[in-house]
Amino acid sequence: MAKILVTGGLGYIGSHTVVALQEAGFKVVIVDNLSNSSIKVLEGIVAITKQTPEFENFDLRDKQSTVAFLKKHNDISGVIHFAASKAVGESVENPLLYYENNINTLIYLLQELNRNGNTNFIFSSSCTVYGQADVMPITEAAPIKLAESPYGNTKQIGEAIIKDVCNANKNFNAIALRYFNPIGAHSSAKIGELPIGVPQNLIPYITQTGAGIREQLFVFGDNYPTTDGTCVRDYIHVVDIANAHVIALQRLLNKENQDNLEVYNLGTGIGSTVLEVIKSFEHVSNKKLNYKIVNRREGDVISAYANTKKANNTLGWKAKSSLDDAMLSAWKWQQTL
Ligand code: NAD
Ligand code: WQD
Repeated sequence: MAKILVTGGLGYIGSHTVVALQEAGFKVVIVDNLSNSSIKVLEGIVAITKQTPEFENFDLRDKQSTVAFLKKHNDISGVIHFAASKAVGESVENPLLYYENNINTLIYLLQELNRNGNTNFIFSSSCTVYGQADVMPITEAAPIKLAESPYGNTKQIGEAIIKDVCNANKNFNAIALRYFNPIGAHSSAKIGELPIGVPQNLIPYITQTGAGIREQLFVFGDNYPTTDGTCVRDYIHVVDIANAHVIALQRLLNKENQDNLEVYNLGTGIGSTVLEVIKSFEHVSNKKLNYKIVNRREGDVISAYANTKKANNTLGWKAKSSLDDAMLSAWKWQQTL
């Protein structure tokens, strides 16, 4: 049974991916410093899969610990690297934290993996690398725009570093997955998104408002050039994202990749406006949402949704869940909190 390292495996997307990996028969070792997650997530993973992944709690910015860990676990066949800081606003206020956490951890891992000949690497990238793309839906060939935030920049730099490593070492195999907007939770409602403090993202803000934790959702702008004036995004169920990681990993392990660095968009291909997302919540929860239109949020792109042909045809993966499916799972999860 192949053993896979999942960094950030107790985080939102990582935990769903650990479940999918274990269900697909992989052995998993998680590294997470719990900086944005809780040890309770491990119980959720065990409750769903009836398997306990190995778990080591340390900070991947600590190079010595990373080296020692990889020496000890010299039987790892592949790495999925989720660990990073991800709050766009915080990255503007504290850019060095973001460069340190998102870039140093990546460099240390790549250095060690290169050294010990472990060559299968999956990187969490983001649609943020495209900024406001000129053409919708966005293909992987769309130009990378100047990053809108230090966080976005770390994803661009991360991809560039991996590209250079793959160029220098043709035996190193990597896949960068550019997620659009991951939402929702596992159908068991045993794991899901755990935003700390006031949520910055739309779906947890909606479900917390629905649950009465927040009084009102603020919709950031209704005068954009879209069908109803609110911004358009490609909201994709986190379980679909998790499954894509298993498929990408199998592609590397089976040596089916055509290039030693491949890049895929992970989205549904469907763009939804903020008002459509609110309607979806109202539909699945049978509740009216208290919301108010306010000014635009600085830095928001107008529209971003994926062209998914490459992921569908080359990777052989397709998102299965609808916005309503994902929203219902998010709402069920919210009610357990
Ligand atoms: P998350 O914060 O829920 O998970 C990240 C996990 O990594 C957390 O459990 C955190 O404790 C851990 N971690 C962070 N720094 C660490 C370090 N130095 N050492 C050890 N562990 C560390 O985030 P997520 O939403 O699951 O995102 C996972 C990845 O996907 C990130 O790289 C993120 O940038 C990327 N991504 C997320 C989204 C999104 O909307 N959630 C979209 C695109 C890309
Ligand atoms: C979605 C839409 C808001 C909150 C962010 C990161 C991006 C990527 C995904 C990691 C927008 C509107 C939101 C609210 C609102 N993450 N909104 N009221 O901005 O697409 O992307 O997460 O890589 O890098 O920037 O997601 O959920 O914040 O916003 O009206 O209270 O909801 O204006 O149109 P976004 P989001």
